[in-house]
Amino acid sequence: MPAYLSGFGNEHATEAVAGALPIGQNTPQKAPLGLYAEQISGTAFTVPRHEARRVWLYRIRPSAMHGPYGRIDNGLLGGPLAAPSPNRLRWDPLPMPAEPTDFIAGFLTVLANADTANGTGVSVHIYRANQDMNRLFWNADGEMLIVPQLGRLAIATELGLLDVAPGEIAVIPRGMRFRVALPDRTARGYICENHGPAFRLPELGPIGANGLANPRDFLFPTAWFENRDEPTDVVQKFMGNLWATTLDRSPLDVVAWHGNLAPYKYDLSRFMTIGTVSFDHPDPSIFTVLTSPTDTQGVANADFAIFPPRWMVAEHTFRPPWFHRNIMNECMGLVHGQYDAKATGFLPGGLSLHGMLSAHGPDAPTQARAMAAELAPVKLADTMAFMFETRQVLHPTQHALSIPQLQPDYDSVWDGLPKMFDGDHC
Ligand SMILES: [Fe+2]
Repeated sequence: MPAYLSGFGNEHATEAVAGALPIGQNTPQKAPLGLYAEQISGTAFTVPRHEARRVWLYRIRPSAMHGPYGRIDNGLLGGPLAAPSPNRLRWDPLPMPAEPTDFIAGFLTVLANADTANGTGVSVHIYRANQDMNRLFWNADGEMLIVPQLGRLAIATELGLLDVAPGEIAVIPRGMRFRVALPDRTARGYICENHGPAFRLPELGPIGANGLANPRDFLFPTAWFENRDEPTDVVQKFMGNLWATTLDRSPLDVVAWHGNLAPYKYDLSRFMTIGTVSFDHPDPSIFTVLTSPTDTQGVANADFAIFPPRWMVAEHTFRPPWFHRNIMNECMGLVHGQYDAKATGFLPGGLSLHGMLSAHGPDAPTQARAMAAELAPVKLADTMAFMFETRQVLHPTQHALSIPQLQPDYDSVWDGLPKMFDGDHC
């Protein structure tokens, strides 16, 4: 079991060998233990202090020691993108690959809303894998929020080890090398590749100092390293394409580090869920775990919100999510169980897109059930849906529109909503 450091936004300091971290300065004339000092700047040097993210690495060989990267096949990662569609879209879960496929080879990009050069927007990928990686990956284009849906991930990063299971998430910063092994031999899940500012905790406003995702429940790795001089393939994603080179060593050779630019994991069951205790219910922003801001306050480049197990107690209230049209763009997935706005068709591992101002809400059976329900307190126990919500319109990839998992008749879930108006009698 990896050991973890607790606390979002903290300046963590950790060493795998005693004495590897220099005391009181970052770059002594000679770093301890014959290590090299190297900084990764995750934000521009001069951003406000509360925005700044950087980490100092003390490693066996510096990252600079590598040959040129050459292009490799992108597989199903990235575009081409289709024209944006005003239609609501929904996909069934993608099948597991038949061929040996590692975490990187199993990427399939479903949606994206920006050129990766812009520094804004997100890309949404599904990963499916049945083979441990024997190569390293890093992403220059975005931070990666990983939502496992099937199978655990054992993620070895430059800064240490993260074991992540369905029901948990992991976030890997831009530029951080990592390798994924599959303790359950197969894995499937979702990735929000965030091209914008790094995810952070949302403001709490009148909620106060506690609640939603609490900082101490975010777990960061302790230093861990490989001292291995053997050829190691490293793949990077750069401006939408995959590039690879071969090092003469493992780049997971960081013996100590300190900073606040680090991968982390979070157990979604630690989310303190807030809902109504009287009537109606709040907007789903009350379920925000992490947010990536834009320059406009309150308008997210990306929000990661969850719909976890919770009690429903509202009186004289239509309890499922209501009918709505949203200026923001909503991509939803389901880790397990059932989402309370849909009776059928939205399956664990599936994905839906409700783009800008597209009308959606409960399907007809859910509407009927909710209106007839006896409003005793009810626990929604087996559910873990989530949403990647983003300001910019999401384009499906041409590939995602061509696969048989795209449901041809999603609109029909709203068929059969009866006309109930009886105002003619008033
Ligand atoms: Fe919605």
